[in-house]
Amino acid sequence: MRTRRSALALMAGAASLALTLSACGQNSKGGSKEDKGSAKGGTIGIAMPTKSSERWIADGNNVVKNLKAKGYKTKLVYGEDDPDQQVSQIENLITQGVKGLIVAAIDNKSLNNVLQQAADAKIPVIAYDRLILGTKNVDYYASFDNTKVGELQASYIVDKLGLKDGKGPFNIELFAGSNDDNNTKYFFNGAMSVLQPYIDKKKLVVKSGQTKLTQVTTLRWDGATAQKRMEDILTSTYGSAKVDAVLSPYDGISIGVLAALKSDGYGSSSKPLPVITGQDAELASVKSIIAGQQTQTVYKDTRKLADVASSMVDDVLNGKKPEVNDTKTYDNGTKVVPAMLLQPVSVDKTNYTKELVDTGYYKASELQ
Ligand code: GAL
Repeated sequence: MRTRRSALALMAGAASLALTLSACGQNSKGGSKEDKGSAKGGTIGIAMPTKSSERWIADGNNVVKNLKAKGYKTKLVYGEDDPDQQVSQIENLITQGVKGLIVAAIDNKSLNNVLQQAADAKIPVIAYDRLILGTKNVDYYASFDNTKVGELQASYIVDKLGLKDGKGPFNIELFAGSNDDNNTKYFFNGAMSVLQPYIDKKKLVVKSGQTKLTQVTTLRWDGATAQKRMEDILTSTYGSAKVDAVLSPYDGISIGVLAALKSDGYGSSSKPLPVITGQDAELASVKSIIAGQQTQTVYKDTRKLADVASSMVDDVLNGKKPEVNDTKTYDNGTKVVPAMLLQPVSVDKTNYTKELVDTGYYKASELQ
């Protein structure tokens, strides 16, 4: 008995020595995590989800610009909304010897194996905008206050319809983002925290009856998918009734919803367009807002997000602790990932000049 115990103790001791060594950054090849002398001038891999939305193009370009200014080389890849493609792109970046990774995940759960490869190669990983779930191998998270995004969209609807003044009831339909994007539930829950009391009081009526997140998601945030769902709802449920508001979580979805509404005859004085929210302040949507079609968007300055993520990777590679402002909210199922969350801003016809033009996000000429 005693012998078995001491053998176990010995094994435990060896395991804890191994743990200590790995905590010190020793890797199996005898290299050290602190051995960062060559990080500057090294290459940072940036994996973005898709080029089909202009925001990610801006994000990618802004990250590249920031990292170059800090003395790094960069490799920027886009996964075209295909999770498998993103995994193999990240594998390639690791093989090519990148010093750090910045990743905006397509599917929040498909990256565990490849991020283990990154960890084995001592490559720090920053989750960009979207949290990566189910792995300890994500060091920091750079994003916006995603709950606030949903609250801003819903509060806009509440104000615009005059619900606080007791107006109503109004008909509303709800849309959410991709179910494999961790942000989706934060946006939706943020919005529903504002809308639910009015739904309970029957001041807001979801005529389709589709109020659960699982009923309203839009795979890969695809505008055409949202358009189809809106068309189906209009045909099956509305008849002579009218939609007064649509909670849309993202500009690409708003544009799809608008197309469905217009082909159903909305957009005239007898059948005005509903209040339609959005997110990302994409050019097409800002133009649509100016033209009085989409009503609102949530502006998230991708220049600032790129700056935060680039500083994070630079700090980690230089043994510094990146600045964070949230160490509670973003539990990825394995650990709470320390996050830096930026503030989103609600934008409509009344403030787009101040928020988007005066800040240099767009040139006035681009919005014409
Ligand atoms: C989310 C992101 C949104 C929007 C959406 C679709 O993850 O937070 O801002 O871009 O993806 O691309």
